Amino acid sequence: MKAKVAVLISGTGTNMAALLYAAKADGCPYEIVLVASNNPDAPGLTLAATEGIATWARAHKGMNRDAFDALVDERLREAGADYVALAGYMRILSDGFVAAWQGRMLNIHPSLLPLYKGLDTHQKAIDAGDKFGGCSVHIVTPTLDDGPVLAQTPVAILPGDTADSLAARVLIAEHQLYPPTLAAFVTRERSPDWLLGRARALAMALPEADEVTSHGMPCFGIVKGKKFAYFTHDHHGDGRTALLVKISGADEQAQLIEMDAERYYRPAYFGDGWVGIRLDLGDTDWDAIADWLRKSWLAVAPKKLAGLMGAAEEF
Ligand code: GAR
Repeated sequence: MKAKVAVLISGTGTNMAALLYAAKADGCPYEIVLVASNNPDAPGLTLAATEGIATWARAHKGMNRDAFDALVDERLREAGADYVALAGYMRILSDGFVAAWQGRMLNIHPSLLPLYKGLDTHQKAIDAGDKFGGCSVHIVTPTLDDGPVLAQTPVAILPGDTADSLAARVLIAEHQLYPPTLAAFVTRERSPDWLLGRARALAMALPEADEVTSHGMPCFGIVKGKKFAYFTHDHHGDGRTALLVKISGADEQAQLIEMDAERYYRPAYFGDGWVGIRLDLGDTDWDAIADWLRKSWLAVAPKKLAGLMGAAEEF
């Protein structure tokens, strides 16, 4: 299944067009489900609509930031978006919106970050006498133009370049950079290696955790003690990538499965004391996974060790 991406634009939307045309290629792992804008006159909207993509626009004037972003958020969810790609979206986002899409929202910025956040990036690069301008794709975090950089393209500054002539060349580089970076980003979140890496980092951060292999599965336990989590990928050909954690018993297992039968399942051969949590649905809440691991760890930790964790949490 392709990852569903919503694109937010404010203007011309050439980066949106680059993402949209790349999505038409066979095998592209994402599809564009919505193009939204804070500017109803954004030329990119007409292009998207003509290409058969759903569009939505609303002028933000007169609305406070939280209220406007809540409206956008509602539209994104209605469209079934898994990810948001900012493409020339010239509006500062509210903290609530960024938190709601944390880890699933990318931005393209016309500089080699961390250089020149904000506006006038090309003029700043020229004034500084830099040899290169360029562009960066990064994960959006609450601080403007600051999240982890996923990919960059340097663009040589020519003698006599103006901000406009440099911008035009950087834009070509942007169109080359954004589609494959977005494709790699949505793919890695479903790849077993990447999922194992994330689960491992959380499990191994718990006190006295160690990793061994059992029945071909990476599993995490307390050194010389019991196991508190298993990572399973396509176990007996079940097609799932999931984490198995300890729970209180059959009642909790049944409740979880009833609450969300797509995500939770009864792991074969493990009985009532464990639950499987799918990691390959594309919308994993990693804070929740960290909580599950901690609870599971507490369930098997010797009293003395569990006591230490309890004490640490009071600070
Ligand atoms: C692009 O150069 C993009 O990097 C920049 O706006 C332009 C939008 O062009 N974004 C920012 O400056 C965000 N801080 P487009 O509408 O043709 O894609």
